[in-house]
Amino acid sequence: MADDVKLWKQMAAESAVAQVSSGMIVGLGTGTTEEFVLLALARRIREGLRITGVPTSEHTAARARELGIPLTELGAKPIDIAIDGADEVERDTLHLIKGHGGALLREKIVAQASARFLVVIDQTKMVNVLGVGPVPVEVVPFGWRATARRIESLGAKPERREFLTDSGNFILDCAFGPIQAPESLANDLDHVVGVVEHGLFIGLATEVHVGEASGVQVLTKRDLRQLPK
Ligand code: A5P
Repeated sequence: MADDVKLWKQMAAESAVAQVSSGMIVGLGTGTTEEFVLLALARRIREGLRITGVPTSEHTAARARELGIPLTELGAKPIDIAIDGADEVERDTLHLIKGHGGALLREKIVAQASARFLVVIDQTKMVNVLGVGPVPVEVVPFGWRATARRIESLGAKPERREFLTDSGNFILDCAFGPIQAPESLANDLDHVVGVVEHGLFIGLATEVHVGEASGVQVLTKRDLRQLPK
């Protein structure tokens, strides 16, 4: 990873972690940007912050334990704030593609269970139209080739990753090309039997913290509502 990209990820992570306060239940995402979130949280915990984290992957759980971040399971209690990376963020809608790290199922459950969902990215992840890269789709192993064919009929080229998710499923990376109607594609994928979850995160992000050469830009869902239709 280039040094400037690393720095932008770290800046975005620090900016989001500044919004965490004592007593909060915090959703912990997965990925290389999230590593900076975990490091920032661990530092603040050493300085006296009291939080409990809900990890979105076995990897994040192990890393959080190493860093001394107390953990709990996702229960009935709502999560106050979740902080996670993304692979692509659509500038005008804040819709996301996530899951290139393979943790999209738990990430989406945690994002949906959170009062606020803060996304942390470096500036290279910001796009005008989603679909620069593939949409990861988690499918049950049983009949996965038939599921892949079904997804292909929606206009993708699914490729199975040599990888098992934390829930024991497969990931199909589905290249759709530019996605002009992400809500409708998400809805179509939701209706394919065999699909457990997909990496289109529609309307879930409350804020996106973008690390850039000039500093951190924070885009909020609130600002979107003020955009002319
Ligand atoms: C994990 O499954 C993903 O959703 C990650 O959050 C996403 O791929 C961003 O990862 P990086 O921060 O490593 O780019």
